[in-house]
Amino acid sequence: MTQDTAQTAAPQAPASDGANSRKVFVKTYGCQMNVYDSGRMTDALARDGYVPTEDMGEADLVLLNTCHIREKAAEKVYSALGRLRDMKKARNAQGREFMIGVAGCVAQAEGEEILRRAPAVDVVIGPQTYHRLPEALNKARSGARVVETDYAVEDKFEHLPVAEKAKIRARGVTAFLTVQEGCDKFCTFCVVPYTRGSEVSRPLSQILDEAKKLAEGGVRELTLLGQNVNAWHGKGPKGEELTLGDLLYALAEVPGIARLRYTTSHPRDMDDRLIAAHRDLRVLMPYLHLPVQSGSDRILKAMNRRHTAAEYLALIERIRAARPDIALSGDFIVGFPGESEQDFEDTMSLIRAVGYAQAFSFKYSIRPGTPGAEMDGHLSEEVKTDRLERLQALLLQQQKDFNESCIGREIEVLLEKPGRMEGQLIGRSPWLQSVNVDAKTSQIGDIIKVRITGTGPNSLFSEPITIQEG
Ligand code: SAH
Ligand code: SF4
Ligand code: F3S
Repeated sequence: MTQDTAQTAAPQAPASDGANSRKVFVKTYGCQMNVYDSGRMTDALARDGYVPTEDMGEADLVLLNTCHIREKAAEKVYSALGRLRDMKKARNAQGREFMIGVAGCVAQAEGEEILRRAPAVDVVIGPQTYHRLPEALNKARSGARVVETDYAVEDKFEHLPVAEKAKIRARGVTAFLTVQEGCDKFCTFCVVPYTRGSEVSRPLSQILDEAKKLAEGGVRELTLLGQNVNAWHGKGPKGEELTLGDLLYALAEVPGIARLRYTTSHPRDMDDRLIAAHRDLRVLMPYLHLPVQSGSDRILKAMNRRHTAAEYLALIERIRAARPDIALSGDFIVGFPGESEQDFEDTMSLIRAVGYAQAFSFKYSIRPGTPGAEMDGHLSEEVKTDRLERLQALLLQQQKDFNESCIGREIEVLLEKPGRMEGQLIGRSPWLQSVNVDAKTSQIGDIIKVRITGTGPNSLFSEPITIQEG
């Protein structure tokens, strides 16, 4: 689910944009959890009078919500900070306030080090302490440089406001909702257990309240988020133990919510209740992101994934038996230390056996402090590049095949946003594909049936289905 691409996450400014209000520009790197967090931080800052802007040039505060997953992702932050330093100098010379905050996983991983490497930074704040951001900015305003990277004992979600209806509406008909954070799995390549801390699940009632608020604000499709979302567990009203399957059954009852998704899952946490939810719940979309990373048992063991390739394939079979139209997506790492050509071929075989509708794949990136970094057998950049190209060619072909298999099918799409051409909207298929649909802006939020007529590089084409009279 993760990319180290950056995106601006500046939700629409509210109508009451006072002339004296401060403006915040938020730049979000990394995974969907960061996108969600950026929204919640923006809401918290709104209480302090900050209005979001999409123009960095007019911002009084620039907040980088960062990702540490691969080296490239982390380095991007420092080059962005170099540019911001110059901007700060120019602003201060004009006697204007200009603050720089670094949030997210680089903040958590590097803490004080960021202040050393980037002296223009005012605030460094880790993912568990976002509710303290307004207070940290106040301290910084009086001259301190603030680093907040403790794992807070209080529940940050209790303290972070959810946007009011109008703002939710402005953000669109799909929304993320973080239900679980952190990770206890300790895959040997991965920084997440160090940057996000150990697994924590949000309580059922808190999640249901937030889902209801989002639905009242016009959200039709909810994607539940967690680094290990299917490790979510909670307690029911009678104290009974609940897992993610139970949460999905509960959320399926929330009025207005027409579609549910969740990401990212670990194969070891796909329990029977969750598979049953895929069988029973029509609102649960037939699409599952289930990363496997490698198809070689030797490498899976070295990665500490704690399952074999055969176990993964057997799991996929059970899921497909429960929901035959389910499409699968995954994450792959090539060039993990010690990966032989045969190990790589095993990954290719696994991909052929599964048939993915979509996938993300990466060259192994050494992360300081993880066990993988200390292992023998690191591979050259050339080998990694060669394997990645071969793997991506196969995955791309599978994606094309999947998209083409949709031609001629009648499917339901959720109309999301204006398309490129007048009279067109972009809709989302059950399998997360973008679909071009002839429809009016007033139909945004509707779910309509269309027939798929063709495929483009990044989207599908469709024609409306005319309902036969009589
Ligand atoms: N919790 C998810 C993954 C979160 S990180 C899971 O267990 O599947 C998202 C993806 O980034 C991973 O699935 C992995 O494919 C990739 N990734 C993580 N660490 C990496 C590293 N050191 N080098 C290359 N890719 C990595
Ligand atoms: Fe990282 Fe593994 Fe945890 Fe996923 S399960 S976040 S890959 S340690
Ligand atoms: Fe990156 Fe942190 Fe997400 S490291 S992938 S932003 S959890």
